[in-house]
Amino acid sequence: MKIGVIGLGHVGLTTALTFAKLGFKVYGNDKDKDKLEKLKNAICPIYEPGLDELLKEMLNEKQIEFLDDISETIKISDVIFICVGTPTNTDGSPDLSQVEEVSKAIAENLNGYKLIVEKSTVPVQTAQWIKRTIKLYSNENADFDVASNPEFLKEGSALYDTFHPDRIVIGVESERAKEILLKLYEKIDAPKLVVDVNTAEIIKHASNAFLATKISFINMVADLCEKTGADIRKVAEGMGYDKRIGREFLNAGIGYGGYCFPKDVRAFYYIGKLNGVDFSLLLEVEKINNSRIDRVIEKLKNALWNLKNKKIAIWGLSFKPNTDDIREAPSVKIVNRLLNEGAIVCAYDPKAMENFKKLFPNIDYAIDKYQVLKDANALLIVTEWDEFKSVDFEKMKKLMRNPIIIDGRNIFDCQEVKKYKFEYYPIGRSC
Ligand code: UGA
Repeated sequence: MKIGVIGLGHVGLTTALTFAKLGFKVYGNDKDKDKLEKLKNAICPIYEPGLDELLKEMLNEKQIEFLDDISETIKISDVIFICVGTPTNTDGSPDLSQVEEVSKAIAENLNGYKLIVEKSTVPVQTAQWIKRTIKLYSNENADFDVASNPEFLKEGSALYDTFHPDRIVIGVESERAKEILLKLYEKIDAPKLVVDVNTAEIIKHASNAFLATKISFINMVADLCEKTGADIRKVAEGMGYDKRIGREFLNAGIGYGGYCFPKDVRAFYYIGKLNGVDFSLLLEVEKINNSRIDRVIEKLKNALWNLKNKKIAIWGLSFKPNTDDIREAPSVKIVNRLLNEGAIVCAYDPKAMENFKKLFPNIDYAIDKYQVLKDANALLIVTEWDEFKSVDFEKMKKLMRNPIIIDGRNIFDCQEVKKYKFEYYPIGRSC
């Protein structure tokens, strides 16, 4: 079976390389020619643990090929995964124009039975639209199925997640499509849930919206902990032992970011509204998440009084560790706020500085986690990279003008930091 993957972002590229590794011949296509050129030359366009090595391996073994031409990709493939972006329109609705564009291209190049699989996160009933579009733009005898097979990988552990998923959701309308998808995932050991396409689409959006809700919920509890002298980390632990709740995604901090949660929460609310379902719970989730930035700025001001001309050192720019992705990252909002307040910003991130420089060419960047601290009035921890968790506090103190740490990700132990006489302001704990 030959697999075509259209759209080579985090999801597309990981999917393509995973199937290549599983032994299928894969053809990748993307409309971004620079990206394709890089991929052909074995240069991974994103940072994601293990992806670079796997790309080289699969190219060497000729298991993957990158094609400039979408028509050729469609014609040569038996199964086509649609992995293009589904960004948000200004009114919060998902912009599905790229999905439509690919559907039209598929229609125009159908040369025998194809299984078309939507992998991108899309609103419920998108598969029906893909089907209709293909019918509208192809000839009457077109032979195809459309399936939904949402992806649940997390950036930063994308490869691990695709090889070890919690579940594989297969949304199909025919036995043939079901058999093909089950065959593709034969070697992956995970529960496989076969459902109808609408159900599969909702599973994906509901999962992301629920996880975002969990984060906003714990962030509110964190605020209450802070006011009352309780410890959010222990509260999360205590709640997490309850199997119905679970400990994961109960880390309070500066809120969720990234390409997925913010857009999916908005999209799911919008889909509800379109269908007469009032999901205003999700508006509150978003509101709470946005207010996390205010909380951090407030903490800085409580410690430093005015921010004007104060040097703020930032640890971490990516929206989460182990990625260079800064899309909808809290760091972007925080740096904008600091600059508006007249602060001097110096940042360090192990992988995301190049991307950040494109947005903020005029702030200072440091070569490591210590250099950034030189003469800083405060350190603000925005992303919980592992390298920030083990540090030389003595050295940090010597470098900083004021020993003040605002910890947006709760990475340090109060006693430890206090030993070195830092003023330490974490989230949801009083130290
Ligand atoms: C998320 C989902 O977790 C994946 O299952 C899904 O496939 C993906 O979206 C997608 O739809 O493509 P991702 O955005 O890559 O994955 O990363 P997460 O690990 O979910 O983190 C999202 C944000 O939530 C980050 O900003 C992270 O810092 C924040 N977060 C996460 C918290 O603030 N607290 C937590 O306890 C967990």
